[in-house]
Amino acid sequence: MRVTVLGANGMLGSDVVKVLEALGHEVKPLTRKDVDLTDPRTINDCRWLAKKNADWVVNCTAYTAVDKAEEEPEIAFDVNEEGVLNLCGKLSGGPRLIHISTDFVFDGSATAPYIETDETNPLGVYGQSKLAGEHYAEAMLDDPIIFRTSWLFGPAGKSFPLTMINAHNAGRTLRVVGDQVGCPTYTVDLATAIASAIEERLAPGVYHACGTEAMSWHEFAERTLSNYKGEAVTLEKISTADYPTPAKRPAYSVMSNEKLSAAGINPWRPVDSAVEEFVERLRRMGTVAQHSIQPKL
Ligand SMILES: NC(=O)c1ccc[n+]([C@@H]2O[C@H](COP(=O)([O-])OP(=O)(O)OC[C@H]3O[C@@H](n4cnc5c(N)ncnc54)[C@H](OP(=O)(O)O)[C@@H]3O)[C@@H](O)[C@H]2O)c1
Repeated sequence: MRVTVLGANGMLGSDVVKVLEALGHEVKPLTRKDVDLTDPRTINDCRWLAKKNADWVVNCTAYTAVDKAEEEPEIAFDVNEEGVLNLCGKLSGGPRLIHISTDFVFDGSATAPYIETDETNPLGVYGQSKLAGEHYAEAMLDDPIIFRTSWLFGPAGKSFPLTMINAHNAGRTLRVVGDQVGCPTYTVDLATAIASAIEERLAPGVYHACGTEAMSWHEFAERTLSNYKGEAVTLEKISTADYPTPAKRPAYSVMSNEKLSAAGINPWRPVDSAVEEFVERLRRMGTVAQHSIQPKL
């Protein structure tokens, strides 16, 4: 398939490009320098968004600074809402779109995993702007696929587990929130789900697409550092109230993948093995130190 990937240098986009290329697809990676979603002219001029050059467009772009969005909502909406409107204007009648959205469209008051038809109620600007983008994709295109994902981590960007490793290496005492629960999602697994959606010509609609293990940030941090160090690491657990942030976050944003799974797409590996590969890639890239355990003399 001929696939154009927007946001190709982002955390998800860079692994989407790698996975699709490894599967033999004809991939055109585009960055903000090639196409700025807030500038309709760059979209209209881009031949890689036209049907004669692409079968699919995967939109991995977003304004993702959850806290900063509270200070600059117009920028978040420019990218996450207007940007999707601009893009869909070009794609109408053209290549099929896979658009990435977020668990932050929910308010976290559920007690069981969210399904696609559950009521949305974003708590902050980021979630509101992403939900507005979903609505444009659904309204403007005949057959879009929207993948809502959560707690992404991959070696190409600033992710929570990398922040934990860096803080640990800097000798900082880590206190991590234990009362927000979600599903960590490895970028390679999500990229694999995207590739399967393309290959299987998945039916249009909203799909939850995230790792299958629910845990708190605290547990995720402990599991990451234990993997990184090769020995059990215990961290102090704090509550959301102990760590106030400008944006409110859902306390429970676990999503059910059942709809995607029923369509035969189920690439999610256990968090520990995803973290192991993630850490190994960080080491190979030189992003984190090769040897973290002090040699015993
Ligand atoms: N990270 C998470 O935990 C998480 C959780 C749930 C859902 N998601 C969703 O997953 C998707 C991928 O997220 P990510 O973490 O990979 O994000 P990311 O690393 O921040 O990458 C986003 C990409 O979007 C590009 N971009 C921003 N504004 C743009 C514009 N106006 N025009 C064109 N490109 C623009 C950025 O380019 P520059 O590098 O030039 O800024 C960057 O390459 C997003 O839709 C996000 O909302 C992420």
